[in-house]
Parts: sequence; C-alpha cells; structure tokens
Amino acid sequence: MSFPPAIRRKFWGHDFSSPVMLASGTAGFGEELLDLKCLSGVGAVVSKAVTLKPREGNLPPRLLETPFGLLNSIGLANPGVHHVLNCILPAAAALPCPFLINVAGESVDEFADVVNILEDSSVHIGYEINVSCPNVAEGGTAFGVDPEVVLRVAQGVSRVTDRPFSVKLTPNGGDIVQSAEAAVEGGASAVTVCNTFLGMHIDWKTGKSVIRRKVAGYTSPALLPLVVAKVWQVSNAVSVPVISSGGVSRGEDVLQLLAAGAQMVQVGTRLMRRPFAASELMDEMKKLTGE
Ligand SMILES: Cc1cc2nc3c(=O)[nH]c(=O)nc-3n(C[C@H](O)[C@H](O)[C@H](O)COP(=O)(O)O)c2cc1C
Repeated sequence: MSFPPAIRRKFWGHDFSSPVMLASGTAGFGEELLDLKCLSGVGAVVSKAVTLKPREGNLPPRLLETPFGLLNSIGLANPGVHHVLNCILPAAAALPCPFLINVAGESVDEFADVVNILEDSSVHIGYEINVSCPNVAEGGTAFGVDPEVVLRVAQGVSRVTDRPFSVKLTPNGGDIVQSAEAAVEGGASAVTVCNTFLGMHIDWKTGKSVIRRKVAGYTSPALLPLVVAKVWQVSNAVSVPVISSGGVSRGEDVLQLLAAGAQMVQVGTRLMRRPFAASELMDEMKKLTGE
C-alpha cells in the first residue's frame, strides 16, 4: 500500500469514487436519503438488517445519547425478507451507488435462508452478514464469538449465492482475528470490522438499566482508536478486503482507517446529526490529500 492512501477504491471488482459506505441501520434502505438528496459522496449504502420473519424490535427507549456516544437497542426491527424483496428493493434500484444487504439471523441456517430468498433481486451487489446477533438456537451467545460457528454461517451463505459477501464481526468477546479467518475459510469475500461495542447506562437512583435489554450497542468517535487497532490486526491476518465500521467523524478518520488496512470505511452514528456526512468527509479528504 502507498501512503497517503488513495481515496478512489477498487472493491469487489467495482470502481468506487468514494471509500465511504453508509453503515447498516443508520441509513434505512437508502430511500429516505435518496429523497433528501444527500447521497453525494456515498460509495455504497448498506441496508438495515433483514431477517427471515418481520421483527418489531425492542421496546423503547431504543436510543440513548450519552456525553461521549450513542447507545442503541433497536433489536433488528425490520419488515422481514419477503416484504423487503417485494416492496423495498425495487425502490432501492434508484440509488445512485452500489447497495449491500445486511442479513441477520437467529440460527446458522437462517442466514443462508434469507440470502437464498434475496437472490431473486438484482438490485444489490452483495451482502453483509451480521454475525453479531445472538444465536438463539444455540443458547444466545453472539455467533461471531465462536470461529467454528462463523465458519458454518459463511459456508451456508457461500452455498446459496455467487455474489460477494462480507461477514460483520463482533468486538465483544472471542478473538476477532480467528473469527475473520474462519469467515474467509467459509468463503467470505470481505470482513467488516466491527459491529457495536457493548455498553450500558444505569440510572444510579434506581440501579436499573435505562435500556430494557440492559446492555446496548455503543458507538462514538471515541471508538476510533479501538477500531483502528482491530482493522490493523485483521487486515494483517486475512487476504480479503477489510471494511471498517465505527468511530468516523472526520475525513482524517477515514484516511487513518484506510492507512490501517481498510479497503472501504463505514460511517454510521455521524449521519444522525449530519445526513450529508459522506459529502463532508469527501471534501475534507480531498483537501487533506489533494486528490
Ligand atoms: C441506530 C443503529 C442501528 C444499527 N443497526 C444495525 C444493523 O441492523 N445491523 C448491523 O450490522 N449493524 C447495525 N448498527 C451498527 C452500525 O452499522 C455500525 O457498525 C456502527 O454504528 C459503528 O459505526 P459508527 O461509529 O460510525 O456509528 C447500528 C447502529 C446504530 C447506531
């Protein structure tokens, strides 16, 4: 790799003028952003997680802002794969950039089942497989902490699609490098490093967690050094591209993650305050690098 890293990227055989991807769960299915005309500077959109059956998600509060970051407990709310296929994906065809579908499941087989159904659409270039959710069939621990389970999920997905897919790994427990290696062995064409970090907010007056599910996913610009370290570790260990996810609020953060070994860089929480974040990040990067 040459430094400073190039802003233009080749990823999964496509030319990307921007390395910035909108992270799953922070951009819906892209349609609202299309309406708001704020997709300038976006390299790709990753959809909200899609599961086999519709999910209502968790009871509120689902979001809690803390002094230094955001806690979320959405619970994978989504209308289910059949509704997504028939009613949402046709509209996503209007997106001006490549589209990836984030897939979640409660059992090893559910990931492949969802992907199999989505294969009827030609709108998306590939998938992001979210193995950070609890494996309900095998006791509730996140899939991603067990490399053997990550391998089985990736193998299952490989069997039903020829499209590229990235496995989105968890930073919460297990060895992320071993899980990344298992994903690649199972046929993954990239790994996303990483999903949200477990966080909690306790009301000291009652001793109770403000979020009903007790622990939630924490995202924040303060995560940047943690994500840089994980991207650096994983990209030195695997042969497939690494997509970073977490901690981006400035153009220089994107450049740092590219320098750490990421091929593409996701931005999520930043979009809640700055829906035009991708365009702003691109402007900042171009100024910094002169590209
Ligand atoms: C409100 C919200 C919803 C999210 N939903 C999903 C999801 O459905 N699937 C998933 O893989 N990640 C989900 N994430 C995690 C993001 O995709 C991303 O990995 C994370 O926010 C880290 O990036 P950031 O620091 O730029 O926000 C969600 C994050 C937030 C804040």
